[in-house]
Amino acid sequence: MSDPTPDRNPPIKYKQIFINNEWHNSVSGKVFPVINPCNGEKICDIQEGDKADVDKAVVAARAAFKANAPWRTMDASKRGKLINKFCDLLERDLSYVANLETLDNGKPFLDAVDDVRATVDFFRYFAGWCDKITGKTIPVDGDYMTFTRHEPVGVCAQIIPWNYPVAMLSWKWAPALACGCTVILKPAEQTPLSALYCGALIKEAGFPPGVVNIVPGYGPTAGAALSEHMDVDKIAFTGSTEVGKLIMQAAGRSNLKRVSLELGGKSPLVIFADCDLDMAAMWAHGAIMNNHGQNCCAGSRTFVQDSIYDQFVEKARTMSEMRQVGDPYDAMTQQGPQIDEAQFEKILGLIESGKKEGAKLEFGGARVGEKGYFIQPTVFSNVTDNMRIAREEIFGPVQSIIKFKDMDEVVERANNTSYGLAAGVITSDIDKAMTFAQRVQAGSVWINCYDIVTPQTPFGGFKQSGHGREVGEYALKEYTEIKTITIKVPKKNS
Ligand code: NAI
Ligand code: MG
Repeated sequence: MSDPTPDRNPPIKYKQIFINNEWHNSVSGKVFPVINPCNGEKICDIQEGDKADVDKAVVAARAAFKANAPWRTMDASKRGKLINKFCDLLERDLSYVANLETLDNGKPFLDAVDDVRATVDFFRYFAGWCDKITGKTIPVDGDYMTFTRHEPVGVCAQIIPWNYPVAMLSWKWAPALACGCTVILKPAEQTPLSALYCGALIKEAGFPPGVVNIVPGYGPTAGAALSEHMDVDKIAFTGSTEVGKLIMQAAGRSNLKRVSLELGGKSPLVIFADCDLDMAAMWAHGAIMNNHGQNCCAGSRTFVQDSIYDQFVEKARTMSEMRQVGDPYDAMTQQGPQIDEAQFEKILGLIESGKKEGAKLEFGGARVGEKGYFIQPTVFSNVTDNMRIAREEIFGPVQSIIKFKDMDEVVERANNTSYGLAAGVITSDIDKAMTFAQRVQAGSVWINCYDIVTPQTPFGGFKQSGHGREVGEYALKEYTEIKTITIKVPKKNS
């Protein structure tokens, strides 16, 4: 494996649409720019996929899914070997892919290295599942025997966001390929580079043509063409709740394709007075600040019990004051730029709303530097539940610290949101921890930790945070159909 070495100018080798293991220009002839969030300058142009390119990719994915196609007749264990081969190549090129990720997304290089390592882990976990996806035999009434097969759902469209480009790709491809599906990925328009390189590795690993296809482009064009397509069997989406709703509507209008959605959140992290205060401040800081706050399960409402509130605010402020913002290639940097101008403006707008609505700005609140989309780690105290910063997903480095009195009150307030992705509780009392964990409406609950997501842990949301679960064994459910086969077998000799 290559040692991770920062490189500000990794060569961009793949800028086209990947269909049938080949590189294509867009049918329309259009390209779109990819921007470096550190300075707002163009990195390169990428071929812009649209409906016509999506149609080509769906034809390829459908052909690769034919019952007699190589991908369908291959031993299940061979699928696992191909996925592992892809992982070997990704490990070989770990440093290069991490550099693409930092260039494209702006996250610190060492964080990008961790993301690529995690990507390999997610793929290897699912590689192990390929030949272990089994049905049941069922003791049915009458002279029959019944068994079930868990068959691949078919051609899967997958639309991902820009906050963890390569890791999100693994959450989508790995379970789909393990189950024997074929895929068409639309990476986020902000961050297509690592995905396109992974396309080249898919080909090098020896996957049959058409099993994996990548159509870079914009949401309302390429993304909408996938969600409305009559020959796509399933769509998996990660991104905003707003677009998640559009995708479900498109599925309903078109062919009732299966839908799984991993959407936003406004996740509560509840800190009881009996906690270890330094540990609590550290987890709470990381819960909101990691990945520049661009995290679907970010702990974006920090609820702190009244008797320790002032002490906690002091520690939270100090941690943000010390956070290193700047050049993502510098090993000391903890926070790079936000992804683009739209997100940058949205976050600064929400910070303004916090000030206007009466929250106390403890630290931050402004841009850093003249160029690029850097924002100071920002801490607000005296936040109340009705303020926009306590209700809306900010998706930026903004901590909102809210005071509470007791368990009943905090559970009710924690649940008073349309979201339900994640929650956390920090306490030394196991009864409090378990009471909260049982009562909170959230797909993941972390006790005395936060944002622990591994290949084995199912992940997804209650309420408007989405449908379905990704990662872990539960993810297999999202990529399989159950077929019931019944055979006539007389129980008694006649
Ligand atoms: P978005 O939901 O618009 O974009 C995510 C993906 O969906 C991208 O690949 C985009 O091209 C695609 N997309 C956009 N419109 C589409 C459409 N009509 N049909 C099909 N696909 C479409 O998110 P955006 O605009 O990048 O960020 C807006 C907010 O969404 C953020 O501030 C944040 O609150 C939330 N978000 C949540 C994410 C999560 O991990 N749950 C990730 C990214 C954003
Ligand atoms: Mg959008």
